[in-house]
Amino acid sequence: MTSSSPAIDRKLDIDAIRKEFPVLHQQVNGRDLVYLDNAATSQKPLKVINALIDYYQGYNANIHRGIHTLAERATKAYEETRHTLKRFINARSEQEIIFTRGVTESINLVASSYGRAFIKEGDEIIVSGLEHHSNIVPWQLVCEEKKATLKTIPVLPEGVLDLDAYRKLLSSKTKIVSVNHASNSLGTINPVKEIIKLAHEAGAVVLLDGAQSGAHIEIDVQDLDCDFYCLSSHKMYGPTGTGILYGKKDLLEKMPPYQGGGEMIKEVTFEKTTYNDLPYKFEAGTPNIADVVAYKYAVDFINELGREAMAAYEHELLSYATERISKLKGVQLIGTAPEKVSVLSFTVEGIHHFDIGQMLDARGIAVRTGHHCTQPLMTCFGIEGTVRASFAVYNTRKEIDQLAESLERIINFMK
Ligand code: ALA
Repeated sequence: MTSSSPAIDRKLDIDAIRKEFPVLHQQVNGRDLVYLDNAATSQKPLKVINALIDYYQGYNANIHRGIHTLAERATKAYEETRHTLKRFINARSEQEIIFTRGVTESINLVASSYGRAFIKEGDEIIVSGLEHHSNIVPWQLVCEEKKATLKTIPVLPEGVLDLDAYRKLLSSKTKIVSVNHASNSLGTINPVKEIIKLAHEAGAVVLLDGAQSGAHIEIDVQDLDCDFYCLSSHKMYGPTGTGILYGKKDLLEKMPPYQGGGEMIKEVTFEKTTYNDLPYKFEAGTPNIADVVAYKYAVDFINELGREAMAAYEHELLSYATERISKLKGVQLIGTAPEKVSVLSFTVEGIHHFDIGQMLDARGIAVRTGHHCTQPLMTCFGIEGTVRASFAVYNTRKEIDQLAESLERIINFMK
């Protein structure tokens, strides 16, 4: 399959990149697979798959505990991933990088630990109308427990946040603002620097959900000045089941542990337990060692290609897809923000999104359909769900042609 994208081909060799992803080279329902569900999870390059095999075949051992050779190798590999991620997001220190199961657990960690310790009755937490359920429900749990109030930044018709309304929501009662860097349903890239600055002026801390930005946008937590930043490996060409929470060290130091167990302690007696230093205070129990080790290779993959080149190529794919698909009969784009990651959400008049998803699958094309875990956002648009095509660096214009042609056939057949 060729990319037919000459401008970006000078920087990225898409055919060579595709060869790194074995899963792409298969037939689904008798057609070449066209994988356009990258916002749900991206595929994994050989270097990530091989890192998992190497770990289990060569040096599987528990970390931070043993003094034997395999334990030391495993510990070194695990800590190398932490170092790689520290550099990837420009954190000040490895102590600010905590391994979790991914963004959902990272947000729950902050909600449970910071929220329980510092939110009081009458306080307010602000999220936005663009949020995934994982950036709504943990805060609702805190608000219920603490008798605090959850407020929402409204979404304007093109799928961007209403910043004027946000300014009015902020007050001395606001303690936490938690928003995504980019929307999983619409692709909108939020003006997070402005959001953070305004929140800080009101005295609130800010958490950014980076699930959809990790593989697409340069992240510099010092420049952003966010207090917490969350990433999931599996949306960044890495394994499922791991990710990070970045937190400013002074905040993490003040926060009580999230879970108790091995590794997070300094000393345990039945009378009193003292806790380990950062980041281990928040890493109770044997972690997901193999997947953390392999996560480094996913970050290396992104670094080698360069986020700028990847974003430029994906932007070109998104523009092409937007142009082709918006022309089809009955198609309505949902989310037309000027700044977007490579996500295209749409509805088709008179045809249910599930039916479209199934008919595309019959042609080997994988997209996501439904509410994308953003039911309040769908309600705001007065819809139940959308069809969502999301692009990664290995996708091609030819695949978008296949999507557009298949959609056109489906629309003509159904009407
Ligand atoms: N949050 C993921 C998505 O948007 C699963 O598909």
